[in-house]
Amino acid sequence: MSGTPPMAKRMADIVALCKRRGFLFQSSEIYGGLNGFWDYGPLGVELKRNIKDAWWRDMVLGHNELDAPAGAPSAYEMTGLDATIIMHPQIWKCSGHYDLFHDFMVDCRESKKRYRHDQVRGRWAEFEGERIFVATTVEAAEEDEDTRRRAMKHFKLRPKDAERLALSDTFTSLDRVDDMTRVLGPDAKSLGTLTPPREFNLMFKTFVGALSGEEGAAFLRPETAQGIFVNFKNVVDSTRVRVPFGIAQIGKSFRNEITPRNFTFRSREFEQMEIEFFCRPTTSAEWYRYWRDRRMRWYLELGLGGDRLRLREHDRDELSHYSTGTADIEYAFPFLPPGEFGELEGIAHRGDFDLRSHMEGKLDPATNPLRLEVDSDGKPRWRGSGKDLSYRDDLTNDRFVPHVIEPSAGADRAALAFLCEAYHEDEAPDEDGVMRKRAVLRFHPRLAPIKAAVFPLVKKDGMPEIAKEVYSTLKRRLSVFYDEKGAVGRRYRRQDEAGTPYCITVDGQTLVDRTVTLRDRDSLEQCRIRIDDCVSEIETRIGGA
Ligand code: GAP
Repeated sequence: MSGTPPMAKRMADIVALCKRRGFLFQSSEIYGGLNGFWDYGPLGVELKRNIKDAWWRDMVLGHNELDAPAGAPSAYEMTGLDATIIMHPQIWKCSGHYDLFHDFMVDCRESKKRYRHDQVRGRWAEFEGERIFVATTVEAAEEDEDTRRRAMKHFKLRPKDAERLALSDTFTSLDRVDDMTRVLGPDAKSLGTLTPPREFNLMFKTFVGALSGEEGAAFLRPETAQGIFVNFKNVVDSTRVRVPFGIAQIGKSFRNEITPRNFTFRSREFEQMEIEFFCRPTTSAEWYRYWRDRRMRWYLELGLGGDRLRLREHDRDELSHYSTGTADIEYAFPFLPPGEFGELEGIAHRGDFDLRSHMEGKLDPATNPLRLEVDSDGKPRWRGSGKDLSYRDDLTNDRFVPHVIEPSAGADRAALAFLCEAYHEDEAPDEDGVMRKRAVLRFHPRLAPIKAAVFPLVKKDGMPEIAKEVYSTLKRRLSVFYDEKGAVGRRYRRQDEAGTPYCITVDGQTLVDRTVTLRDRDSLEQCRIRIDDCVSEIETRIGGA
């Protein structure tokens, strides 16, 4: 029997497996945890590292700059960068994050809880001419009965009086409510405890050096991208790269999300894998299409697929006017309602917006490339670096500000999607041949934290010695695991839950002919191979992962 549990249970099972097997732990757990922060355990750190390594290898090191890859307008170059997390504060003024990177929030004076304004909705309830708005959060809005129960409680109605309460059928968003004194907050007992919406900048603020006032104020980066833009000239001047080329960076980003949620999906500290690809304005539309398709293919190649992965082009009215295209790669995470998708990666055509902002000063996002944003006195709102960030083509001698295509992926969201996709429940025979339920992570071999596990069937007759010899040989080349504790069936199941594609068992036959059993995680097939062939056999099967 094999099957997929219903979505909510499936997500709960995945979260439980992540904790049980050491993929993910709540940060600061022994102190009660810190909302929006997650630690990767021994298996999780390998999974995420494999994802980042696969991205770096496939996007940066692995491509051949002498030939145009399939679908690319021409050959191109790629290089890497590792910029700091804290940078000059002016960078965030010119990038627009200082003024524009915010959400609206409402606070509840009674429950002391904070909500994103766009994520609160509710139903109107009326009794004997009094009308109140019973608010709830987006997730809880599914539970119709909760708003009814709270409205009944407010009007002190008993169950037998339920029909006297008029309750609207549909949920209305809080931003459509004018009179906040009529609102019953999601976790409140009295009316009118929610504050009017206030802007909340998502950047974490810190102070550099001994200065504690605004002069020393700095920010933890909310994206890795800006470190690339401000180093554009350094990279061009210190290497031989020529447009078209890309600069890639993997690193931590920080956003003080008002409502972190859905396991690691919306965290306050997370890792991004970003490319800023610099090209001529005339070819930028073709490069946009190339990167959009290349990035979609990458996820498919590593095993995300079916109707759970989609590429969604933004509508024209969702685009900034300087952008000729933005697409999101989205995955149907099991914590989302059926038919809904969550963003894994965005691929954006950013025009010359960022380089020109860092050169001249903050551009007006509504009118770029025509105007600097100015204050009421007509002075530029934020000055740029004043440095020339244009590019001169040494063959044609023309000078231009390159256009940028930005594929921006989240390493944690990718890890979560690969975990969700890999998770299966089925049955496998135990050592007595009895079929038993198992949870298995069917990771692509490149992503599997452990590539092979080595077991002696029993802890005697010289089997552990031979198994350790096999383990030591493999360990030099691959991430492998040795286990001699407990029944072999239970050891197989532990490795299935870790997503290990192959298990090698030393048994009685090994003592006779130096062959071992090789078990395949997915097909459950077992075959015998020679000890001397173990390395080459596993390497061939995992495709040099
Ligand atoms: N430089 C463009 C940029 O940062 P974004 O859409 O805000 O664009 C890019 O972020 C990716 O970073 C997202 O697609 C997502 O994978 C990841 N990401 C963004 N916010 C995140 C959060 N709070 N938690 C985890 N990952 C996040």
